[in-house]
Formats: sequence, structure tokens, C-alpha cells
Amino acid sequence: MKLNSINIEPKAGIDAISIFVPNKYFSLETLAKARNVDKEKYTIGLGCKKMSVLSPFEDPVTMAANAGMELLEKNDIDPDEIGYVIVGTETGIDASKPIAVYIHEMLGLNTNCRCIDIKNACYAGTAALRNALHWTLSPGSRGKKALVVTTDVAFYNLRSAGEPTQGAGAAALLVSKNPGLLSIDLNNESVYTREVMDFWRPNYSNTAIVRGHYSLECYLEALEHTYKNYKKYTNLSFDDFSHFIFHTPFPKMASKAFKQMLKMENIDFDNFDRLFSQKVANSLIGGSELGNVYTSSLFLALNSLIEFGQAAEGRRIGLFSYGSGSSAEFLSGFFEKDISQWSHNTSLTEKLKNREAISYDRYVLYRAAYEQRMKEGYYGDDQPSENSRFVFRGVKNHQRQYSYFPCTSSKKEEIADQIDKN
Ligand code: CAA
Repeated sequence: MKLNSINIEPKAGIDAISIFVPNKYFSLETLAKARNVDKEKYTIGLGCKKMSVLSPFEDPVTMAANAGMELLEKNDIDPDEIGYVIVGTETGIDASKPIAVYIHEMLGLNTNCRCIDIKNACYAGTAALRNALHWTLSPGSRGKKALVVTTDVAFYNLRSAGEPTQGAGAAALLVSKNPGLLSIDLNNESVYTREVMDFWRPNYSNTAIVRGHYSLECYLEALEHTYKNYKKYTNLSFDDFSHFIFHTPFPKMASKAFKQMLKMENIDFDNFDRLFSQKVANSLIGGSELGNVYTSSLFLALNSLIEFGQAAEGRRIGLFSYGSGSSAEFLSGFFEKDISQWSHNTSLTEKLKNREAISYDRYVLYRAAYEQRMKEGYYGDDQPSENSRFVFRGVKNHQRQYSYFPCTSSKKEEIADQIDKN
């Protein structure tokens, strides 16, 4: 394995990561019972154990704010260091106004900050990361950092084939020069676009329409193109990657993707179990617990690998990002010096453990509440609490209403105190 074989200067990448895990989940075994389906179809056939479910006062904005807040607070980041907020989402909440502007306010960021949303199905998260990397290295960023946030609620129709793959969650990444966690190989990229109708969500619908089996074919075709070209551009071999992480609509998809790679490499399938457990399996734990988190899926896989796998400084990992419709990219990155502090220590284990299971009736009720709150006139009086600092109250006068504790105010006071003392 070539370690740090490409000397990238200047370096840019991910300096910190945070995943927002909703605190309610619905078990796939319970869903299988309700749908009169063999539970192994969901748990083994698709690899899904649980799906995250939003409480009625949560939405893509509150999830994004929670992920961003944790990132800033846990890593002691001064909000004034952020010069760019880019939100990647498939579940935009307004045809015009970006989620990035809402969270800019909620996180108490400086007005000297550009805020945009990117839409490109599940690829939007990687597109946001790419955008942030280039900006970080441009002279105009003047040493500031970018905050990339991905946030989604994955809904399919009740009783549809996609239902067991639903999920919800958000991710926040601090993108900077000389990152401590993962530098991205900026010398190389392999991208792919093809107009296909495999999965889409019309503006009038909260649920996605999907040609399920066809979407798997489109995903695998995009992987084949991008992986083949990446190797051609870089002269890297399969063994140069210590791990591969994939966009994971359901964990079995990643195993299909890995099988496809072994086929391309002419590696005997007898080696599948060993190689899969070495290079892929640990990155799928988060996805099997949260369900499909669309734009956050690749970053949840990264966080899972760091939490549950053997991530070590200098190791190169391959990342495959797929967005239906379709756009895809294969890229790679190196773990950096701070990885030893993050490894097995991202708090994902704790977040997964501290959740509450809900019944089938509550699953259906919460889903109906989510859809109702997006309409004018269902304005609630929910208030923020220590456990839920950002609350979506509904739509009033055609405006989304949020209540929250400004997360960085105490920090701002602390900073002001320090400046006074100096
Ligand atoms: N025990 C164990 N396994 C069983 C089983 C049992 N009793 N019964 C069935 N299975 C297995 C099947 O053999 C199958 O496995 P293989 O694919 O390895 O053969 C698996 O369970 C699923 O069975 P089906 O294919 O019959 O399931 P389905 O037709 O009901 O639905 C699906 C599967 C098409 C993936 C559906 O869940 C779906 O539409 N999902 C949403 C679309 C999606 O996620 N597409 C992914 C690519 S697109 C993308 O990545 C973008 C995105 O995020 C959406």
C-alpha cells in the first residue's frame, strides 16, 4: 500500500465532522411484521436494522442546525472563522430560500459569510464539499473556513418497496486548509453524469418516486465508470485503498458495489467476506441504524469508519458518491494526524444508544405530523429545551417558524470576555 504517496500542497479537506442522529427510531423488524414480510428480507436482504424518525417539531433545518451547532461547540470553533456555509440537501424546504441562511442565523455566524444550498439528489453533499475545498484554497477566503452541512428526510410512500430504506439525519463538516482529519486528494477526481429517471421527487410531492431495481443498475454503472477512470488517471491499484466508503441508500447496496469492484479487479469472490470486512463493513454501521440519509450518507459512512473501523494516519480511502438522476464521483482522501484523537471517539456509538424506539402507530402519526406541519396554519407552540435546542413550529403567514436557543451566544460572550482581558 502506498502511504501518502501524493504530496498535495496546499492541503485542504475535512478538519472536523459531526452527525446529527434523531432521537427516535423505528425498528425494521416491527415494520416487517406490519407489512407481513419476512423480517430477514429487510435485515439481511437490504441490511437495514432501524430507520430514524423525526419528531413533529423537527425538520431539515433543525437537523442541519443541530449538526452545525455540535460541530462548532465540540471543536471550539469561533463562529467568526466561518466564511462560507454550503448546505447539500434533497429535501429543500422552500423553492427559493436556502436552508443555509436559516442556519447561518441559528448558529450566530458573521454577516461576512456566503450561504447557499446545492441540489443534486444525494450527490449534493459531495458537490458541497468540492465547492468548499476550492473556496478554502482561493485567496478570497482569506484564511476563513467553510461549513458544509447535509440534511435530509428520506420518505417513500407507505407500503412501497422503498419504505424499509427510509431514514433521516444530518452531517456537518468543517472544511479547511491543512485539515486534521481527512485531506482530499485534489489532484484527482473522476466524475460522471447521465440523464436517467431512476429516482426523483416532483415539487408537489414529499415522497420520492423510484424505479427501484433500475436505480441499482444506474448506481453500479456510475461506479464502474468512475472507479475505472480514477484508477486510469492515478495509476493507483485496489490495494492502495485501505478502505472504501460508498453512498449507502441501504447497506446491501454497498456490498453490491464492492462485489462489482472485485469483478472489475478480477479478484476471486472467495475473498469477498475477508476483503469486505477489512475494507467496507465498519462504514455501514451508521447506515444500518439510521436508514438512507441521502446527502449525508457518504459522511455517515466516513464517521462510522472512524468510529468503528481502523482509521490511521496516512491511509488512503476511496469515496464513491452517487446522486440519482444522475451524477456521481469517485475521489480519495488521506487520514491526517488528528485521526488518532477521533478514532473510536466520535460519539456516534453513544448517539445510537441514546435513542427511543417508537411503535408502528407513532411512526405513522409522526409522518403525518411532518406532512401537516409543512402546510400553512398548523402552527404549534413547541418550545426549545436543553435536549431540543432548535424547534420547528410550523408555517404561519407562509413563513416557517422556528424557536431556538442561539447556540453560540455564550461562546460569543466568552470570546468577548477574553478579548476584554487581553
Ligand atoms: N431473507 C433474506 N433475504 C431476502 C429475503 C429473505 N426472506 N427475501 C428477499 N431477500 C433479498 C432479495 O434476494 C434481495 O437481495 P439481492 O438484491 O441481493 O438479491 C433483497 O432481499 C431485496 O429484495 P427485492 O429486490 O425483492 O426487494 P424489493 O424489490 O422489494 O425492493 C429495492 C428493493 C428496489 C432496493 C427497494 O428497497 C427500493 O426501491 N429502494 C429505494 C431505491 C434505492 O435505494 N435505490 C438505490 C440506488 S439509487 C440511490 O442510491 C439514490 C438514493 O439514495 C435513493
